[in-house]
Formats: sequence, C-alpha cells, structure tokens
Amino acid sequence: MTRVWNNVADWLDRRNALAGRSMGYVPTMGALHRGHASLVERCRGENEIAVVSIFVNPSQFNDPKDLERYPRTLHDDLALLERLGADEVVMPSASELYPHGYRFRVEPDSKAQFMEGAYRPGFLQGMMTVVLKLLNIVRPDRAYFGEKDYQQLKVVTDLVQEFFIPTRIIACPTVREESGLAESSRNMLLAAEAKEKAACLFWALTTAAGPVEARAVLEAKGFVVEYVEEHWGRRFAAVFLEGVRLIDNVSILEVKRL
Ligand code: PAF
Repeated sequence: MTRVWNNVADWLDRRNALAGRSMGYVPTMGALHRGHASLVERCRGENEIAVVSIFVNPSQFNDPKDLERYPRTLHDDLALLERLGADEVVMPSASELYPHGYRFRVEPDSKAQFMEGAYRPGFLQGMMTVVLKLLNIVRPDRAYFGEKDYQQLKVVTDLVQEFFIPTRIIACPTVREESGLAESSRNMLLAAEAKEKAACLFWALTTAAGPVEARAVLEAKGFVVEYVEEHWGRRFAAVFLEGVRLIDNVSILEVKRL
C-alpha cells in the first residue's frame, strides 16, 4: 500500500522509521505519464523503498500563466503510483517548503546560463533550490531523473557534488510515444492534432544535418523555435506549439547512426 504524507513533520518521522533501508526517490510535479512510470519502476527495482514527491514548484516558473495552467491530475497520479507499487508519496505544501517565502536560493554558475538557463530566467535557480530542499527532506540513496530534461539532470548532478549531498543521481532514458514524441506532462495541454504535429520535434532533431537545418524544418512546420543547440554530444531544442512549450534532446551519435 502506498502511504501519502501531506506534511514534512509526519514524513520526517516516517523517514526515521525507515533508516537503514535503501531508498530511491523520484521527484515530480505530478501530471504523471509513462516517463515518470519508468523512473518509478527503475527506482523500485534498485531500492528497498521507493519514494515519490509531488510538488508543483512555484519558484521554477518564470511565467505565472504557465504555473497556473500546469496540468494537475492528483487523483490519477496517486492511482498510478499505487499501481506501480511506490511505497511513499511526499506532498508538501508551498508554505512548508518556503516558510519564509523565496528567501534563499541556489545560484547556478555562469556556465549554466544557456538553453533553459537563458530562456527561462529563474528556472534553474528555482529547480535547484527545491531539489536541494527535497533531497534534504527525503535523504534518498539514489534519485532518478529523466534525460528529457537533460540540462536539469546535468545541473542537479553538479549540485549534489558541490553540496556534498550523499545521493547518487541516476540518469534514465527519455520515454517516447510511438510517434517519437517525448513523454511530457505538457503534452496533456496539446489538442489531438497538435500532439500529432509535436512528433515533428523529435523527427527534426534526428534527421537534420545540424541545428540550423533543424530550426528551419521546425519553423516551416509552424513551430516557434526558442533554440536549437548542441552541447555534451547532444542536440537540444525548445519550441512552442500552439502556446505550449516543448523541449527535447537526442544523442548526436545516435542521430548519425540512423
Ligand atoms: O522535472 C521536474 O518535474 C521538476 O523540475 C522537479 C525535478 C520535480 C523539481 O521541481
């Protein structure tokens, strides 16, 4: 049975009772999909206790409208986590995680100021700040992050090293629909037709000769392109489709093999 913790104090008591058992952790903002499910399954397989948190973190949204319309599907999320066999679900409130407002924050170094760091001001700060808080509350041996949010994964890996947090960050492959579209909570905001078109993002990233061509292909298909860039042997893009922001990335080595 999955246990749900709505406040930090009760969870911390439970955490103490679980001391000595290996613990894996999947941080989420809810609106769970097959990508999250794959993280939870791996987490369960590699640890005695699988913990999931659900918290829509206001500090990582630079646009209040984006925060407001972020999908919230709590009932379905809890049913899915029960089916997946998650042991513990931690759902703190904003007033508990930010009791004095957004008083202290983690600042990434200037090397992180590109892609998401450049186009979503405050996103990396807010995300790192909440991940630091959550890791300190959950104290897991391993934490599972998807490669779809690759820059987030890199930054969090550096964060745990810099702050000597005894958690191993485990990178997990992006889960895709048959069309190639990367699973994302934001896909829920797309109408059926737009969702079909959204698959072109993966297709453009994997077939274009380079970022310039990928951008041209995406623009011709009607996407508003924020960036197409290459880093760490991967090709990244952020686009808007009917006002919904989508990101994806692929390994350049894999692209060349296709
Ligand atoms: O990837 C997400 O869902 C969020 O950025 C995270 C890691 C749960 C922090 O709020």
